[in-house]
Amino acid sequence: MATKKKRASGGGPSSMKRFQSAESQRRYARQAREAGKKIGFVPTMGAFHKGHLSLIRKARRQNDMVVVSIFVNPLQFGPDEDFDRYPRDLARDLDLAREAGIDAAFIPEPSELYPPAFSSKVTVGPLSERMCGAKRPGHFDGVCTVVLKLLGIVQPHRVYLGEKDAQQLVVLQRMVADLNVDVKVVSCPTVREKDGLAMSSRNAYLSPEHREQAGRLYEALRMAQREILMGQMRDPAKLESRMRGLITEESEIEIEYIEMVDPETLEPRPVLVGRVLIALAASLGETRLIDNITVNVPGGRMAEGFGSAAK
Ligand code: PAJ
Repeated sequence: MATKKKRASGGGPSSMKRFQSAESQRRYARQAREAGKKIGFVPTMGAFHKGHLSLIRKARRQNDMVVVSIFVNPLQFGPDEDFDRYPRDLARDLDLAREAGIDAAFIPEPSELYPPAFSSKVTVGPLSERMCGAKRPGHFDGVCTVVLKLLGIVQPHRVYLGEKDAQQLVVLQRMVADLNVDVKVVSCPTVREKDGLAMSSRNAYLSPEHREQAGRLYEALRMAQREILMGQMRDPAKLESRMRGLITEESEIEIEYIEMVDPETLEPRPVLVGRVLIALAASLGETRLIDNITVNVPGGRMAEGFGSAAK
């Protein structure tokens, strides 16, 4: 008797579909929609870690079908950035995605999404010029352009995005609202390593010494949260300088920015009131890392009134 094979070599049950052409992925979406299925979509650049998998699992819980895209998008990398050396391991990603129970993976070649005649793009306003955008001009235009294209191809009901990339989340939420895209954006909490370092495909670049130092970033965010919640700290400049001290003391971390901003508009908060997004970017050698935390500043209406008056 033939034994039932649970796994194909190196993979799981092969009900997972793979599409390389936009047309075939789109046809799949159309059929799923006609059958009344809800589609959840997780756009990624691959090199999966537990952060990606948490998005996939959430999409799995909330939808009938889950589609993941794996595409290292050249449009969002600057000329001196890590496009060429960005980690790629499609076989491993597909195994992990299959295990997490996705229905389809969309894996286009760059020429599929950007044929020679390609010339349109999404331009993001001031939201994209600050924080990461200041150092990475054109980055968020590239992110928005590819995500809008992917949404048009995958046609999901819900799209899952990580809070780790806070500015990306805000910018994409803005784009979906501004351009009346018919999809619900679902944000997902940051998944961390044991020492608090936010999981990232780029962590693989870190040397062991730098990896150890990288834990400081989250330590500083937690310290800031404690200072606000327990130490009555309301002065962003003072708090930033404490964070800088903690991060840079006997470490090689170079801080690019630390910002304390309104989580929706990304406008700096002159006084820490209401909900505050504390976001940072830093580099360790060649590796650029970002992280953030959102804090609900205690103090109620009085403090909020003071905040708006102070603007
Ligand atoms: P990528 O860096 O592969 O991330 C894919 C998704 O996983 C993003 O929504 C990101 O915020 C989320 N993510 C990454 N690390 C996470 C963590 N530690 N915890 C929770 N979620 C995490 O972000 C991109 O790709 C691209 O810019 C993309 C949106 C796919 C457009 O090209």
